[in-house]
This record gives sequence, C-alpha cells and structure tokens, in this order.
Amino acid sequence: MSLESITKSRLVPVAVIPSLSSALPLAEALMEAGLPHIEVTLRTDCALEAMRAICKEFPEMTIGAGTILDATVLPELVEMGVTFGVSPGLNPEVIEKAQSLDFQMIPGVITPGEVERGLSMGLKLLKFFPAEAAGGVKMLKALAGPYGHTSVQFVPTGGINAANAQPYLDLKITRAIGGSWFVDQKLVADGDFEQIKTLTRAAIKLATP
Ligand code: 3PG
Repeated sequence: MSLESITKSRLVPVAVIPSLSSALPLAEALMEAGLPHIEVTLRTDCALEAMRAICKEFPEMTIGAGTILDATVLPELVEMGVTFGVSPGLNPEVIEKAQSLDFQMIPGVITPGEVERGLSMGLKLLKFFPAEAAGGVKMLKALAGPYGHTSVQFVPTGGINAANAQPYLDLKITRAIGGSWFVDQKLVADGDFEQIKTLTRAAIKLATP
C-alpha cells in the first residue's frame, strides 16, 4: 500500500490510543469521516495491539506507526501490515533497518544538516518536527530555498491546528500536514467519536486541495 491517501488528503492524523477498546471506534470514525489512514503513536502500552486490531479489521486503511524510537519494533510492524513509520528525529539505525525491510520511514528533521542526512539516505519525505516550535512556516519557507529543487517534501507536524494550518498547506514543499487536533487524545479517551468525525471532516475540508 502506498501513501496515496495521505498525499490526496494532505492530512496525517496523529493518534495516541489510550486503551485497546478505543482503537477500532477511532479507525471507524476516521473511515466514516473520509480519512482512510491513521498514524498510531507508540506511546501507550496498547499501541501495537491497537495497530494489529486496526490492520485486521480495516485492511483498506493505510496504517502508520508513530514515535518509532528504535529499530527493533520494525519487523513486527511489517508483519502486521503497517505501511509506514514516523519518528520524531532522524535515527540512521532505524532508517537502515527500515530500508532493509522495504518499509517507508518518515523521520523528523529541523535543520539543513538533518535534511541533507535524509537526502543522502535516499529519503524524499521528511517530517518537519516540531513544526511550530522550530520556526513554523518561516523556517519551512527558508528550507524550500536550497531544497525546493530536489524532490524532497515535508510533513510539518507539531503545534499545527485548524487555525494555523493554511500557510503550511500553501507551500509546495508541504506534502501533508500532521496533527492531533482532530483526533485529540482526550476525545479518544472519552469515546467522543462523533466529535472526532466532525473535526476530521472539517480538517479534510481545510486540507484537501
Ligand atoms: C506528536 O508527536 O505529538 C505530533 O507531532 C503531533 O503534534 P500535535 O499534538 O502538536 O499535533
């Protein structure tokens, strides 16, 4: 499976799943709202089980694992059918292992040095993280100067929400934006999937060209 639905919607929902019982209702809410993909962060005890359940019940969804901090988890992700991985930083060990498994990683970068490290490893899609704290749209525009002619693109993530998303989306160098504002952890924990659907539909409307 490719990243087609992310490219099309220009939106990556970054989810923290607090308990296994929220996994399938969250995936269903995203599907019903029209977003057939999810990034499940590896920050909770149930994250792997949650991804396994979503992969099994929603094989039509593109599922990503977020917060990948070491390479050891990668074979299990591939085995369960996870399509892509995201990490807050660029860890060469993780990238090399992922490439040996033909598993797409979207590692986080901020600086030109990190961008070039990613390019030298053959990566064409990088997470710009933490976007707002690291200079936001201004920084991304500055990076587009020397790197805009390469085929690299970014997924700015971190501090992005409905109010500040548009200028990121307006940049050619932005493939998609990532965020948790429409899959907010509290809404997931409270089981407020109707509100998640409403926010997701609004986010899709905002992001989709
Ligand atoms: C994260 O790692 O938590 C993501 O980048 C999401 O950031 P956000 O919660 O600020 O959208």
